[in-house]
Amino acid sequence: MTVAEVGVARGVSAEAGRRRTFAVISHPDAGKSTLTEALALHAAAINQAGAVHGKAGRRGVTSDWMAMEKDRGISITSAALKFDYDGHVLNLLDTPGHADFSEDTYRVLEAVDCAIMLLDSAKGLEPQTLKLFDVCRSRHVPVVTFVNKWDRPGREPLELLDEIEQRIGLRPTPVNWPVGIAGDFRGLIERSSGVYTAYTRTPGGASRALEEVFDDAGALAREGTVYEAAAEEVALLSEIGADLDMPSFLAGESSPVLFGAALPNFGVRRLLDAMCALAPAPLPRASAAGDPRPVDAPFSGLVFKVQANMNPAHRDRVAFVRVCSGRFERGMVLTHAATGRPFATKYAQEMFGAERETLDVAFPGDVIGLVNATALRPGDTLYAEVPVEFPPIPSFAPEHFAVVRCKDAGKFKQFRRGIDQLDTEGVVQVLSSDLRGDQAPVLAAVGPLQFDVVLHRLEHEFGAKSELSHLDFELARLTDAGGQEALKGLRGCEVLTRRLDGALLALFADKWRLNAIARDHPTVTLEPLLAGTVAA
Ligand code: G4P
Repeated sequence: MTVAEVGVARGVSAEAGRRRTFAVISHPDAGKSTLTEALALHAAAINQAGAVHGKAGRRGVTSDWMAMEKDRGISITSAALKFDYDGHVLNLLDTPGHADFSEDTYRVLEAVDCAIMLLDSAKGLEPQTLKLFDVCRSRHVPVVTFVNKWDRPGREPLELLDEIEQRIGLRPTPVNWPVGIAGDFRGLIERSSGVYTAYTRTPGGASRALEEVFDDAGALAREGTVYEAAAEEVALLSEIGADLDMPSFLAGESSPVLFGAALPNFGVRRLLDAMCALAPAPLPRASAAGDPRPVDAPFSGLVFKVQANMNPAHRDRVAFVRVCSGRFERGMVLTHAATGRPFATKYAQEMFGAERETLDVAFPGDVIGLVNATALRPGDTLYAEVPVEFPPIPSFAPEHFAVVRCKDAGKFKQFRRGIDQLDTEGVVQVLSSDLRGDQAPVLAAVGPLQFDVVLHRLEHEFGAKSELSHLDFELARLTDAGGQEALKGLRGCEVLTRRLDGALLALFADKWRLNAIARDHPTVTLEPLLAGTVAA
């Protein structure tokens, strides 16, 4: 029997039960790429660190599109990784690290069942971690915390726990506890069993650390006073009731905490075990009408990301679909809920970082890459047999606005095609009005780097070199036809139509202008959009 046949024989509920679909959220430089590689490495999915993100000097993705990402040292593209571990199937969805792409991150978080909040032990909670955590909270995504870089000097573990509790109101419940201060890391005490694992760096390689297991007496004999100090802290944790509590974890109120260091592979395997044991398997997903679709219902999936040009060998466009229910089989004809049109899935693929393989069968929690799915947009639903439509993924409030124009009038057709595609992919929001016309649409972004992506792609992918003129607007509010009429011609304000969904967005120069106009026109609808920026 092939692996796919085993899956078919096993049934959808059992397969869904084996899945853990999660993302790592962190501030840039906390070690997300390193941890992703270490997790996959431990799961023996890859035998050489570096296949995931293709950082300089490592094996990996090399498209010219990625060149921009490499130059800037940031991760723009999202990849999905799938690996088997200990009887489970783990789907690790990558999130872009940079705040300017938080809208992409939000979409990815729509597709996961759990998140790992990765902290740098020296820095604790950083602005981007806070912001992403807020998204998890709003979506009720359970969060496991991994305190990384324990091999380097850092802060006190109790102080870090306190920060988590005080600043984000998440009750930390340590699963293990470090022996030796950050920078002089010796090993981890497993709180539930008291077993001590000592770690030793493997000479010459970051691929594996040496792990030795001791009981209490053995640990004391080996580590002496540092072990005693850690054991006292562990006793204190139990006294203050910081014990693992599944219901509050699943409700997003407490967070299991694990310590370690991704680079030398300390505690990474323990994190994998924790994800299998603690993270929830796929659950029924509520439709827009509020009805939960059971995981063993006929196939349904949510498009959470559309990405073009991921690899020079495959210059195409991939829609990433999270399977929500049922068994997916390549070749099945699905219905695109937004249009009611049939959708063929002959070219389904599985993503493995930059690599792809044809995918034949998938189950709830898995990610399917549908190639050249031009009609699909983030937030779309695909289903088989029994109709369903999941709630749309909300757009973030844009805070940067610019007019984009093609530099070469002869390339206008390519320019327009490019703008349409980037809009559909959700790279940027495209706004228009009769007044401005097709030649000069307005781009609206959460972060200015989105504009750079647009210019880069218009030039290199569509052959339409373009330029931007920034507009003096900072805020957007949703309005309606009445608002459009009432706000016409007012200084420091303009109403434009968002092409994607036809929503009317009123743009304002700043919050004072907005407040003044709202005061003068109290009956005008001015609804806030989902905040893209959460104060640190
Ligand atoms: P990111 O994706 O979150 O941005 O972080 P990334 O993994 O690129 O890690 C950022 C830096 O932190 C890297 O060093 C990486 O080697 C280091 N790092 C990650 N985990 C650990 C850890 O557990 N211990 C220690 N000591 N360092 C860690 P870099 O010098 O900026 O880059 P590189 O040249 O090593 O790639």
